[in-house]
Amino acid sequence: MRVRVRILTAGCLVLWTMGYVVMAGAQGTETGKAGAAATKIHGVATRPLTATSAPTVAATPPMGWNSWNFFAGKVTDKDIRDTADLLVSTGMRDAGYVYVNIDDTWEGKRDAEGRIQSNEKFPDMKALADYVHSKGLKLGIYSSPGAKTCAGYEGSLGHEEQDAQTYAEWGIDYLKYDLCSYGGVMKAQAPDDLPAQYKLMREAYEKMHQAIVKTGRPMVYSLCQYGWDSVWEWGPSVGGNLWRTTGDISANFDRMSTIGRGQAGLDRFAGPGHWNDPDMLEVGNGRLTHDENVTHMTLWAMLAAPLIAGNNLTQMTPDVASILMNKEVIAIDQDALGRQGDRLGAEGPLETWWKPLKGDRKGEWKAAIAIFNFGDTAGVSGVPLGLDRDGTMIARDVWSGKDLGKIDSNWRTTIPRHGVVLLVVR
Ligand code: GAL
Repeated sequence: MRVRVRILTAGCLVLWTMGYVVMAGAQGTETGKAGAAATKIHGVATRPLTATSAPTVAATPPMGWNSWNFFAGKVTDKDIRDTADLLVSTGMRDAGYVYVNIDDTWEGKRDAEGRIQSNEKFPDMKALADYVHSKGLKLGIYSSPGAKTCAGYEGSLGHEEQDAQTYAEWGIDYLKYDLCSYGGVMKAQAPDDLPAQYKLMREAYEKMHQAIVKTGRPMVYSLCQYGWDSVWEWGPSVGGNLWRTTGDISANFDRMSTIGRGQAGLDRFAGPGHWNDPDMLEVGNGRLTHDENVTHMTLWAMLAAPLIAGNNLTQMTPDVASILMNKEVIAIDQDALGRQGDRLGAEGPLETWWKPLKGDRKGEWKAAIAIFNFGDTAGVSGVPLGLDRDGTMIARDVWSGKDLGKIDSNWRTTIPRHGVVLLVVR
């Protein structure tokens, strides 16, 4: 490992390489959205890395829980109440997971005035919101700019203002707005004209943004259109606080790591109030092993990604709880500087990512460095960065909780198959 970083003046980092493959900004491995876009962003004019005005919501990446990854179409009012109770009793709320988000399949029919009703699984949405709020949590909901959601339920097309108003009256704090059947509207209205279709898409997202603003209720606005049309370039302009950069995650290592690694190069588009969203966490779902869950959590924290857990809290193991609630890892994700990390380089399946941290006071950590092993056998790596003139830095191994003291280019660590070593350094 031969990349070094030196702090020149307050917070100004310079890195240089000696034979190490620097891949920051290179195309990710996902064949779909984020990977392709990562090559496109070279040369694109970038915004300042820190926002100039304080955002009213999502100053740091939103944290919470969403029903889709585990409950999918089966979610009920009781599941949401149980989850709210467990977010409190497990300590997750106090660790930062405050949004309880109901995904698709809550929607019922519209009444005679066109007002959306919740279906029989959710008998009283206002009462549910009151319950969630009474626990010191916030409630999120889901809809689509299309006539139908992805699961075939009622969408918001033609009812945007009315729906936003209904959400505000119920006490909703977060809206995930999923393109779904609006793709069909785009095609019908602008056949064979992709730029015109994309324009319709942006207008649809802007329309719901304006409808939310009109309610006067602060709501986190989560765009879900799978990264089409390089959404990271225009998401903030339609009021997006976060936007999905990819298709759906699933609870297996290949899909999770492909999505995570595919975020390389998107760091310049994230910041306070507006975040890239590589999809919700699968930690604790499927057959992800301990090391795979640790890798997932670390990668999302390095990406300053929204941390929206998606597991069944009624069956959460102590191991999964300790991964989701590792305070130091959450602090990396939630760092006030609001910088998304990026890949520095790779040697075979070993990838080194780094994320600058605020660290502006004496003794605070200045960066997080993660060395991932995406390979199928254990690997050995050093750390490629020297923060001082003498080529040393003070480091802490976050997952083992061990202070390493001063380390230099001779330091080596073994990284398990599908695992990671996460350091904070100064
Ligand atoms: C997909 C979306 C998922 C989930 C699902 C619900 O489009 O990416 O996260 O919301 O719809 O139908």
